Amino acid sequence: MVTLNQPANLLLHLSDEHISLQKTVRDFAQKRIVPIAPEFDESGEFPMETIKQMGAMGLMGIEVPEEYGGAGMDTLAYVLTMVEVAKADASHSTIVSVNNSLYCHGILKFGTEEQKQRYVVPVAGGEKIGAYSLTEPMSGSDAGTMQSRAVLNDAGTHYVINGRKSWVTSGPVADYVVLFTMTDPDKGHKGITAFIIDATQPGFIRGKKEPKLGIRASATSELVFDNYLCPVENVLGKVGDGFKIAMTVLDAGRIGIASQALGIAEAAYEAAVAYARERQAFGGPIGQFQMIQQKIADMKTRIEAARLLIYNAVLAKERGKVTGERYTLEASMAKLFASETAMFVTDEAVQIHGGMGYSKELPVERYYRDARITRIYEGTSEVQRMVIARQELGLR
Ligand code: CAA
Repeated sequence: MVTLNQPANLLLHLSDEHISLQKTVRDFAQKRIVPIAPEFDESGEFPMETIKQMGAMGLMGIEVPEEYGGAGMDTLAYVLTMVEVAKADASHSTIVSVNNSLYCHGILKFGTEEQKQRYVVPVAGGEKIGAYSLTEPMSGSDAGTMQSRAVLNDAGTHYVINGRKSWVTSGPVADYVVLFTMTDPDKGHKGITAFIIDATQPGFIRGKKEPKLGIRASATSELVFDNYLCPVENVLGKVGDGFKIAMTVLDAGRIGIASQALGIAEAAYEAAVAYARERQAFGGPIGQFQMIQQKIADMKTRIEAARLLIYNAVLAKERGKVTGERYTLEASMAKLFASETAMFVTDEAVQIHGGMGYSKELPVERYYRDARITRIYEGTSEVQRMVIARQELGLR
């Protein structure tokens, strides 16, 4: 049993392959993403070119086996990638995270061989974009209640899907979507089914694009299904298993968002330390003052604690690959703590920068805006606390 009392380097071993991946992703992210991040944040345009380049580097299917077009690496490799990309730009990391853990992971775990070949290969290779669609206007945290419907046609060949989904990351550009919708409303969450949706088919309509506070280059929209005909072959997993599939996939997703939060926090922290060394006030660098030092100490400590919780979740997920056990508790703890840390650290980074932290001339204000979503999507902090407490109390 691995405990958090062990130092980080004993918790997880970074192989030569991990170190090389981390360096490659860092170089790419710093050289290619950092310079374009402010303009894409401003315009809200989807950064298709850099996303395609990352796809070609294998970063859209890091844990996807090579036979399905991925890099065939492990969860630690995914985490290291997410941190480096998020440090450069959170929007890019959101897209990476959805393609990897919410889209590819779900189809790999629950899909048929044909579904994997057809729908994982092009997304893991970066030629196509995947999305995951659970939320609806009246169903967010209470994901088990939804109003969209899929009804099997008389011939038993297709489901006719109608309804409106909201807050779909990559919705405006996605080629394929893993969709959760109700096939048997009388059964509550046991009446939800997962489908793989091809966005080129009639009845798939991209709705309103969300104007967002942060992660502005990660396009988010509503999706409307208007008598969309989905072939029965595109049911993912079993009919009625959709809610469990959605939750299982979110466990993986939450490790990704925790890593994103860590990356944003690291970027803000490094900017704050550099500023505290340079900025002069009252006859010296502001870093000599205890009130700034206290902030630096608290920021650093929380960042390293978040990293350990993420590593703990990585270990639990790797263990789960062998034993089949869930890692819900570890993923939720990592997501909760890392996202709260990102908010704390980016807020303090703005404070250390003073007026400059509030200016669009520096990236610190963007880190602060981008961090905010990590406490909301893939389960709010309140939902994470609910999940953790239920697990501990044996209520689920
Ligand atoms: N893995 C597998 N099964 C799970 C599970 C998990 N992690 N969590 C729950 N289940 C199972 C339960 O065992 C239970 O099974 P049975 O019916 O056989 O007993 C079933 O699912 C229902 O579980 P609950 O009773 O716990 O469900 P609930 O209705 O009380 O909801 C919840 C629990 C944790 C609040 C859940 O609804 C939830 O996570 N809500 C948040 C949704 C969310 O994260 N949305 C994010 C949208 S996606 C997004 O943000 C992506 C993006 O844009 C980047």
